[in-house]
This record gives sequence, C-alpha cells and structure tokens, in this order.
Amino acid sequence: MIQYDYVVIGSGIAGLSFALKAAAHGEVAVVTKANKAESNTVYAQGGIACVTSTEDSFELHVRDTLSAGAGLCDEAVTRIIVTEGPARIRELIELGVQFDAREGDPDSEMNGTSELDLTKEGGHSKRRILHSRDITGKEIERALVAALEKHPRVHVLEHHIAVDLITLSKLGFASEDRALGVYVLNEASGEVITLRSDRIVLATGGCGKVYLYTTNPPIATGDGLAMAWRAGARIANMEFIQFHPTCLYHPEAGSFLISEAVRGEGAILVDKKGNRFMDRYDVRGELAPRDIVARAIDAEMKRTGARCVYLDITHKPPEFVRERFPNIASTCLSYGIDITKQKIPVVPAAHYQCGGVQTDVDGATSLRGLYAIGEVACTGLHGANRLASNSLLEAVVTAHRCNEALLRAFPHTLPSERVHFPLREWVSGDAQNLDEMVVIYHNWDEIRRLMWDYVGIVRTTKRLQRAATRLRNLDREIQEFYWNFKITTDLLELRNLCTVAALIVDSALQRQESRGLHYTLDFPEPSDSLQHPTLLRRL
Ligand code: FAD
Ligand code: SIN
Repeated sequence: MIQYDYVVIGSGIAGLSFALKAAAHGEVAVVTKANKAESNTVYAQGGIACVTSTEDSFELHVRDTLSAGAGLCDEAVTRIIVTEGPARIRELIELGVQFDAREGDPDSEMNGTSELDLTKEGGHSKRRILHSRDITGKEIERALVAALEKHPRVHVLEHHIAVDLITLSKLGFASEDRALGVYVLNEASGEVITLRSDRIVLATGGCGKVYLYTTNPPIATGDGLAMAWRAGARIANMEFIQFHPTCLYHPEAGSFLISEAVRGEGAILVDKKGNRFMDRYDVRGELAPRDIVARAIDAEMKRTGARCVYLDITHKPPEFVRERFPNIASTCLSYGIDITKQKIPVVPAAHYQCGGVQTDVDGATSLRGLYAIGEVACTGLHGANRLASNSLLEAVVTAHRCNEALLRAFPHTLPSERVHFPLREWVSGDAQNLDEMVVIYHNWDEIRRLMWDYVGIVRTTKRLQRAATRLRNLDREIQEFYWNFKITTDLLELRNLCTVAALIVDSALQRQESRGLHYTLDFPEPSDSLQHPTLLRRL
C-alpha cells in the first residue's frame, strides 16, 4: 500500500496540468494505463478555443457556447471557464507550447497573445481557436510531459490501470461516504496494488470506444466514469454523445479525424456527384454546430444510400492546404488521397462525451475526496452539445481550479495530519486465468455494434429499450467473468464499457425530447419541462 498526497488517474491535458500544479504542494502519483503520452489529448487537431483577439469578446464566446449547448449549459460555469481561459493559455505558452503565429497586429495587444493565428470551427461566431498546425494536442501533450519529467514529486505509473475506487462505504463504515484510495492493476506483473489518498482526481477522458466507429484511441473506454458510478458518485447528461461529422472513410484508416478546422478554412461538404447539401439544413452551412452537421450527413447518407459523403478543399491553394494541415494531408496521402486534388470521403463517428461525472467548476464530485476534470467530468459547460475546441479549454481551466480548491479544502499536506482508515488489500482468492479470450472480444464487439445501431445519431424508444435489455444480459455475463477470473486490462475495459453503455441508454430513455445531440424520432421537439440535466446515481 502506497500513500500519496494526490492520486491522479490519467495523463492527458487534464491530468498532467493538474499534476504539475499539485506537485508544488505534495507527492503526486499519476496512474496511466498506456504510455504517458497516450490519450485523447495527443490526437486533438483543431485547437483550443479562447478569446485573445480585440475583434472577439468573452460575451460572444459565452453566447456561442450557450447556443451550441441548446439550453442545457450552466451559464455561470461557462462564464468562469471562458474568462479564465487566457490566463491558462499564457501558462501553456510559458511551459513551451508553440501555437502557430501570425503577422503581428500592433492594435490587438489583448492578453499578450495577439500574435497568434486564430482559426474557426462550427458554431463559433469569430476566429478564436489557437492551434499548432493540425497537431495541437500533440504539441500540448509534448510540453506537459516534458515539464512533468523534470518534476521530482510526480511519480508516473505507466501501464497501470485503475480498477476501482476504495470508499468508506465499501469498507463497511456507515458514516458520510468518501474516497480513500484506488486499486490499480500493474499490467506487466498482473499484481493489483493499493494507492491510498484522500485526494483522488479522475482525469480518465471519454468513452468513444463504446461505439463501433469513433475518432477516439483505444484508451477511451470510460473507465473513470464507470468507477465513479460504482462508487456512488452522481453522473449527468450521458445521453449527449457528440458525433464528429468528418472521420476519414477508408477501409484501412481505422479512426482518423479530418479536423473541423478544414471546414473553418473553407472546405465544403458534397455528395458523390459534387453537390453541396449543408445549405439545405442550416444557414450556417458547413460551420453549423456539430449536432446539426452530423445529423445532416446521416440524413444524406440514408436518403441516397451512399456509404459516405465528401469534404472538398481542392479550391484552396495546394501550398496553403499542405502547410496548414500537414498531418491530415500526409495521412490521407498514405491512403492514396491527395487532398489538394481529391475530395476526402468522410462519415460521422463518435467523438466526445458531453456528460460525465457531475462536478462543480472546481472538479468536486458528489463523493467527498473524489474530483473529476477534463472529458470524464460534466461541469455544465457543454450542455446538450459541446462547442468545438471548448474541451481542451475546459480541461486546463478546471485542472487549475481543482488544485486551488484542494489547497483550500486541505490546507495541511502532511499525511500525519489526515484521518486514516484501515484499507483492505486486493484479494484475488482462487480466481482462475481466463482461457477463453474469445468471449471477451465477442462481448466487446457486440456492445460497440449495438450502441452504433441502436443508440446512434438518430434514436427511437424501441431501439433504446432493445439496447437496454441486451446490455442487462451482457452485464450479468461480464460480472460473472469479473468475479471468477483473474482481472486483465481487456476484462476491466469490457466491464467499464458495458456500464457506460448502460448509462448512456438509461439517460437517453429518460430524455423524452430531442435536444442538442440527443435526437429521437419519438419525441422530435425539445420540451421546456425537460430543460435540466439528466442525473443518475447508483443506489
Ligand atoms: P485524455 O486526454 O483522453 O486522457 C485520459 C487519460 O486517462 C489517458 O492518459 C488514459 O490512458 C488514462 N486512463 C483512462 N482510463 C484509465 C484507467 N482506468 N487507469 C489509468 N489511466 C487511465 N478537443 C478540443 O478542444 N480541440 C480539439 O482540437 C480536439 N480535437 C480532437 C481530436 C480527436 C481525434 C479526438 C479524439 C478528440 C479531440 N478533442 C478536441 C477532444 C479532446 O482531445 C479531449 O476531450 C481531451 O483531450 C480530453 O482530455 P483529458 O485529459 O480529459 O483526457
Ligand atoms: C477537430 O479538430 O475537428 C476537433 C475539435 C474538437 O473536437 O473540439
């Protein structure tokens, strides 16, 4: 059993930003299930939304965020995150993040970031997205990892997967519940270790892998959300899964995103005959918010029977396209598509979870001692649909605020001054090694396919009910594996995926209206009486 002042689970932008700040006040463990740079963060392309230009204002950014969020954003939280953005951006720059620069503009000295190039994405009324060509996340993650490596008080446990939270109630105490530690599987040795801390920060990112087609990497299996649920924390708004409109459609490409910034720089969406269609769906055309564009593509594909639509940026100068989008251009070329001359085949794919573990703007969850920041959390910023590039912003702002809030809540950092409850070590008992991996993979595929088919962009109550029934059966089977066999990463992820899928379905069944990303044919209009978050809590 190892004691830390802070245990952070996850090493994307949220976890690393928090760990760097917390390390000034105590010993920090960062538990991460792959290598430390692997995360959704490292694949972020478009950039980070922040008001840095005199032509823009906090008010406009707030207005755009609220408008995309379709009546469900928490306005106070939105204001805080938007207005604290510039200070956090300055810190990222001080850390060494290189955002693309533009020609200096002596008239716009706002925030000391006036020389930065700004791009545009759907739903933004102004150019306000800072970026590092089309690999913004990689650049941010690089700088954070480099800073972390110099910090003697941050202990990174790579290839360690958090299994479950240890809480007072799980230990059998009846007093007010709180988080006390976490069980962690060391993937290499198969051993489960116990980390003790009264400040546990979930920064485990999203759950894109719950869908068959996603822009997310394999780590995105909703582990933190499932752990928080099992520990009794409140979960909010899980029906709002954002589908990115433009994922590359190619049999060998897996899940490669074509950034919304490509549309921000003028690309248009067309069908296979080259006809533009977005203007039939929204006056903002290709730059309407994501829910509208993804639904329009889905409708066009269903209407014409096509397997994909196309994104066309061939009218822009080839040098501009190659310089502005080097990663997208070279990746597409590796699949035989020259984007300066050819249209890019694209389809929508699951991209972002707008809901999550319910928190305040400082990351505090409903369970004492447990904090959640980044994509795993639901602060209220995104409402029913996240505005593009607001998630990296939310992660850095809430990481900073969470550290400040913890310093206020725990002014003493000495372990001896804290309450100690006896924790139990993990017991494997007579669990066997699972010899039939095929059952894990079969269930994994089944969940992802049923979520895609029944709980996708357009929903119906009947399909949701079918999904709920199937998931209940799968859950029973998976619980049996969990208790009878030695745990592995695959088994843990499968168990978490099943839990998260059920939370999405249960939330979607509760929302008997269409709003933002949740669209159901049975209730096609929004309802005033449902303009509030969907909350779930394990009893
Ligand atoms: P992540 O970066 O996903 O990090 C989660 C971490 O938790 C990982 O290190 C993972 O290994 C670890 N982890 C998970 N489970 C466990 C476990 N059980 N035990 C231990 N460790 C665990 N947003 C924007 O604002 N702008 C963009 O341009 C943008 N582009 C995107 C492009 C792509 C292709 C994708 C997929 C997303 C994009 N997003 C973008 C969304 C954004 O990248 C994510 O929301 C954000 O990076 C999430 O950061 P995070 O720190 O919360 O989680
Ligand atoms: C993109 O580059 O299109 C992704 C932006 C985001 O998800 O915020």
